[in-house]
Amino acid sequence: MRVGIMGTGSYVPERILTNNDLAKIVDTNDEWITTRTGIRERRIASDDEATSDLAFKAAEKAIIDAGIDKNEIELIIVATMTQDHLTPSTAALVQDKLGIKAAAFDVSAACTGFIYGFTAGYSFIKAGIYKKVLVIGAETMSRVTDWEDRGTCILFGDGAGAVVLGEVETGGFLASHLAADGSGACELIVPAGGSRKAATAETIENREVYLKMNGREVFKFAVKAFPESVENVLTQQNLTADDIDIFIPHQANVRIIEAIAKRFKQPLDKFFVNLHKYGNTSGASIPIALDEASKEGRFKKGDKIVATGFGGGLTYGSILFEWSK
Ligand code: COA
Repeated sequence: MRVGIMGTGSYVPERILTNNDLAKIVDTNDEWITTRTGIRERRIASDDEATSDLAFKAAEKAIIDAGIDKNEIELIIVATMTQDHLTPSTAALVQDKLGIKAAAFDVSAACTGFIYGFTAGYSFIKAGIYKKVLVIGAETMSRVTDWEDRGTCILFGDGAGAVVLGEVETGGFLASHLAADGSGACELIVPAGGSRKAATAETIENREVYLKMNGREVFKFAVKAFPESVENVLTQQNLTADDIDIFIPHQANVRIIEAIAKRFKQPLDKFFVNLHKYGNTSGASIPIALDEASKEGRFKKGDKIVATGFGGGLTYGSILFEWSK
């Protein structure tokens, strides 16, 4: 049985925050942000929007795109690091909003979350447990962003993307690689608000409830982990980078994407890029990119696609699949 993407959908909040807007909040400027990251603007959720709201809107679109009845979905997986609450899961909230009967759980693997979720969804179907699985990546990064820290607040944005996985006639899943290196946990971390350090007046005062990042270390990690992961899935299928029609990289920084294209001696236009519009939407970045690339007609049936994520954990991973639609 072949398992692949039946439909995709995405949703980004209406509010746009440009680099020039950011320059009014912290000591930065459009030129610095654009040349160091490629990011020009990002979307910010409205006060009454949480991650499950963005996830629900992306999910509805993916279900329509798949041409199925929503009641066919048996499992919902939400990859997120900005869940609505510590508990319940965001996936359970999406299940309720969709008004369907389905199992639901969240995946916590930061910017690699969608790759983990996709692999889990594929595995549930392949094992014969469920027939159709909704995998969503959704984030409201603006809620964990320290708007006083110019080293991080310029990078992140809000949004959601979703795919429906199910049996497909041609193509579909070919390989997956998932990895974690928890020794690098401190490089990208929200220190407080969990069981190690509760959200107290003191930790809030110390801004420990916001995302902290060691940018240089994460950059070094990304340019090492990304190619290692791509090589892994290519080797599993005896392929080389030349055999891949399009790469869907996690949208963190265009300089990281350029370094990877160079490393694999591939033209940059084989790498889908939309980070100039949305910044780094963490777990949502790959499914948003997949949906936009699909809607822009970038995929042909039979195209070989590699999607790669990296980020907090530290985690990284790739999926290799053939476009089935
Ligand atoms: N605007 C203007 N100047 C800034 C700035 C900003 N927003 N942020 C930092 N700077 C300054 C620094 O203070 C530093 O000044 P100094 O030399 O006087 O000390 C200088 O710019 C260089 O800072 P540095 O941190 O070395 O910049 P960098 O070239 O490493 O770029 C990142 C910073 C964050 C863009 C880069 O490290 C990066 O992209 N890392 C990966 C981050 C990532 O992808 N995270 C998500 C992974 S999922």
